[in-house]
Amino acid sequence: MYYPDNLVEEVRTRNDIVDVISSYVRLQKKGSNHFGLCPFHNEKSPSFSVNQARQMYHCFGCGKSGNVITFIMEYENYTFQEALKLLADRAGVTLPEIEYSARDRERDNLKARILEAYKEAGKYYYYQLRSEAGKRAYEYFTGRGLSDDTLKKFGLGYAVTGRNLMYRYLKSKGYDDNVLKEMHIFYVNEREGMTDMFWNRAIFPIMDVNHRIIAFGGRVMGKGEPKYLNSPETMIFDKGRNLYGLNHARTSRKGNIIVCEGYMDVISLHQAGFDQAVGSLGTALTSGHVNLLKRYTDNVLLCYDNDEAGKKANLRAIPLLRAAGIPTKVLDLSPYKDPDEFLKELGPEEFEKRIENAGNPFYYEVGVLETGYDLNDPDGRTRFTGEVAKMLLKFEDAIERDNYLEGICKRYRINADNMRKLLAKLAARGEGLPEYEKPRSTSYGSKKDPEGGIKKAQRLLLTWLCEEPEIYKKISRYLSSDDFSGDIYRTVAQILFEQINEGKVNPAGIISRFTNEEEQSEVGSLFNTKLDKLNTKAEKEKAFKDILLKVKTHSLDLKAREADPTDIDLISTVLENKKILRELGELQIELSEDTEEQ
Ligand code: UTP
Ligand code: MN
Repeated sequence: MYYPDNLVEEVRTRNDIVDVISSYVRLQKKGSNHFGLCPFHNEKSPSFSVNQARQMYHCFGCGKSGNVITFIMEYENYTFQEALKLLADRAGVTLPEIEYSARDRERDNLKARILEAYKEAGKYYYYQLRSEAGKRAYEYFTGRGLSDDTLKKFGLGYAVTGRNLMYRYLKSKGYDDNVLKEMHIFYVNEREGMTDMFWNRAIFPIMDVNHRIIAFGGRVMGKGEPKYLNSPETMIFDKGRNLYGLNHARTSRKGNIIVCEGYMDVISLHQAGFDQAVGSLGTALTSGHVNLLKRYTDNVLLCYDNDEAGKKANLRAIPLLRAAGIPTKVLDLSPYKDPDEFLKELGPEEFEKRIENAGNPFYYEVGVLETGYDLNDPDGRTRFTGEVAKMLLKFEDAIERDNYLEGICKRYRINADNMRKLLAKLAARGEGLPEYEKPRSTSYGSKKDPEGGIKKAQRLLLTWLCEEPEIYKKISRYLSSDDFSGDIYRTVAQILFEQINEGKVNPAGIISRFTNEEEQSEVGSLFNTKLDKLNTKAEKEKAFKDILLKVKTHSLDLKAREADPTDIDLISTVLENKKILRELGELQIELSEDTEEQ
């Protein structure tokens, strides 16, 4: 980690979580928690809770949780360092300068200058659109149905015809040639010096998720080539890691993200109320895009153009999204070409219906495959079936694979048992079936538990001990961090037990010991596992003991199983374990009358 733990702690403790989150989410106090609508998933009734005493948040809907630092990281899409900086500034804590190399510092300064210059350029284009010379472009936009609000929301502009108007403008604002060169919106020419890249084009600023302009696209007025001219990749703009419109879509509350192709598609969708639309801007979706999407949604709707190019785009995107574990559907726009045209012809209500009826991506893939075969011809059918079998083999999860097998066989009237035999035959020949059933990658927040609830029991135990640390003293003889599964749980248990021994339980502080976002969220959830509502003291004590026994039994079983079976001590170990469990079973655990209600 960059900064020492105590400094991170100082920044964290000087930013009260309720204060900070209140400036992003409207919170209402209910009991000892504050509740609001979760900013990380779409919901109508508040299940996002912020606990002031613990300085943590937790969403009972989507499972996200963490402390004030992880909140800023998630909400602003910041790195740990960036989030810490924001909070330090907010609380007036000065962070020490990180040791930069002179080169790094120079690069950062240059980047900052380029970003300022883009902003300035964006303003100038924006202004030109509204000038007399920009009338034609303004009419173009309004002619395509865009409202003034939309023009403003997307910062649309116009580059008037002129050799180096923008160049001279930015020079007059004090930007040096080395900065202007790095913007890549000028042509550099030995004889003529620097000239503007965009002449007489409608301008679409491309922004990052923090609304900072990082590139421009310019559409020709009328017909001409290329239709869209885009400023190239730079040290700031990485096409494969940016999605047009995500700066707006990320705060949409629709619960999904629509991925489409073009500038105008995104803009028309937003204007029609689909403020969850983003565009991959004519390039194929990359794994960088997918990672970006994964941060903001677990539900993607592909909405590429209804043509050959769009079909290819879908076929490339589907496996990437599948590999990332993001549930995906494919929209059918027919008979229209793209979402912009669709909305113009049929309007938002019909589009909403297309969303509801969006298709399963595997069926889509098979549908595309089908067009290459004549299914009325036995030979065509056989070859088609063989290809489908290979596609089915790509599903690693046996249940999922069989569900698809059933579905597809019904759809194409193929005998399911024959299909199963074919799959077995292919697999026996080594055609791709994985040897083991890997647990499927779990997406953010939806934690599956392949170990039959043991992790949940461990989480409950940690939550409980955190709420009633006094109990730990009674059971510490029987419980150690080794009884927990996996590095994260073990580390957390170890720190928590140390804190309990020192008499200062501080779960929010434990989160900051982890630097990776996913880990932080997981750690946060450890302390926010929902305890079932228990009425009487006796019920609570029984529940606690059950959980404790479950955790301990699991841990002892595991150790016994891992032991060398020829070990002569094994039998005594097993007997010893039995004794521990019996003692635990007889232990009197006095819990307090009231645990906090979640
Ligand atoms: P389309 O040709 O489908 O454009 O390209 P469109 O968005 O429907 O354009 P309008 O409605 O005629 O204005 C889809 C996207 O591909 C990229 C652009 O991002 C465009 O929005 N593209 C297209 C280019 O970058 N350059 C081109 O020459 C054409
Ligand atoms: Mn299009």
